[in-house]
Amino acid sequence: MRPLIAFAALAWISVYARAGEPDAYDWNLPKGFPKPRVPADNPMTTAKVELGRYLFYDTRMSVNGKASCATCHKQELAFTDGRAAAIGATGESHSRSAMSLVNIAYSGALTWSNPNMTQLEDQALVPMFGERPVELGRREGDGFLSRLRSETKYRELFGKAFPGESEPFTTANVTKAVACFERSIISARSPYDRYHYGGEDHAVPYAAKRGEILFFSQNIACFRCHGGFNFSDASVSDRSTRRSIEFHNTGLYSPYPAPNFGIYEFTHDPADIGKFKTPTLRNVAVTAPYMHDGSARTLEDVLDHYAAGGRAHDNPNKDPLVHGFALSKEERADLAAFLQSLTDEELLNDRRFSNPWPSK
Ligand code: HEC
Ligand code: HEC
Repeated sequence: MRPLIAFAALAWISVYARAGEPDAYDWNLPKGFPKPRVPADNPMTTAKVELGRYLFYDTRMSVNGKASCATCHKQELAFTDGRAAAIGATGESHSRSAMSLVNIAYSGALTWSNPNMTQLEDQALVPMFGERPVELGRREGDGFLSRLRSETKYRELFGKAFPGESEPFTTANVTKAVACFERSIISARSPYDRYHYGGEDHAVPYAAKRGEILFFSQNIACFRCHGGFNFSDASVSDRSTRRSIEFHNTGLYSPYPAPNFGIYEFTHDPADIGKFKTPTLRNVAVTAPYMHDGSARTLEDVLDHYAAGGRAHDNPNKDPLVHGFALSKEERADLAAFLQSLTDEELLNDRRFSNPWPSK
């Protein structure tokens, strides 16, 4: 009898210990959806996600108390800001459009065109401390961490998120928590997902089903860059073996796209001028205006752009896949209906991603 009891106790302890381990975080992913890659030194925990959410919405993150991450990344707009060019806490204009943070956990590189920026923990430092342009305008030693320490709510949240650390109020821990919150923003329940993965045949209208066929056709070829579960060839998951991702020039400019030169700014290879990351098309119906510079106002404009084979036909770097195609009025409406079927209302209204601070 004795060994059996010991065995039962051991089994119970190991199950219990596993449940208490940080990587027991429940991603709550539907069938067919892969898990994101997570850096080994910042495993997901519910406590870090919760702390990150408070920080993401905290205007004390900015030099003048006027902006937080959420100022430019609004939940109802799939974490974009509705502007062609983002505006920082001090009124400075960014040269690029704010990007959606939905399914950012899967992005193989971050921002429109930095192939070297791969970790959310590093990226969070850019809006906080960046000077060109100023986004939140913080400086090292600006008293931010002591302001956090004096907030009762943060003493509770930092304690839970970083248990056992004698000084949890560090910039590194701020970026870790913000990154965990960002990784938790998963969109996988759009009408298209319910139809495609969930077998709900009536979740999308016929127009969207016809549009899906066009999107995945060899001629129109959107899927060649906006492919896979996240509609972006820049997405990777824990199943991918790929280490780097592709960037593309979609023929927006002739010949050179000032002031944004794409990944050329990092690689200095002239063939890379005007190459940008392929953004996910999930929730694209609510993320206008489009492209890195917000130069396409509506989804109609985007379809016009591709149908014409880009705006700049003489651009030597234009991707051969942007070759133009004829599109009837009905086909255009079908493609638009398909893109609209990617809007995940559940995500846009999910309380877990909303502002946790009591409204004043
Ligand atoms: C002033 C507006 C603004 C603020 C404030 C801001 N962002 Fe952004 N965000 C942007 C813009 C613009 C981009 C595109 C940057 C680029 O291409 O260089 C971006 C890009 C990103 C990306 C890359 C997304 C992708 O698809 O690769 C992440 C992640 C991100 N922001 C997170 C944050 C976090 C976290 C905060 C707060 C600490 C924050 N942002 C604050 C405007 C802002
Ligand atoms: C050669 C690869 C490629 C092909 C083919 C392609 N795209 Fe794109 N798409 C991109 C890239 C790269 C961007 C970002 C370009 C930029 O901002 O400079 C983009 C941007 C977009 C955007 C704007 C998204 C946003 O968040 O601003 C939409 C919408 C879009 N594409 C839809 C489509 C559709 C629909 C098709 C098929 C008709 C298509 N794309 C074909 C690579 C491609």
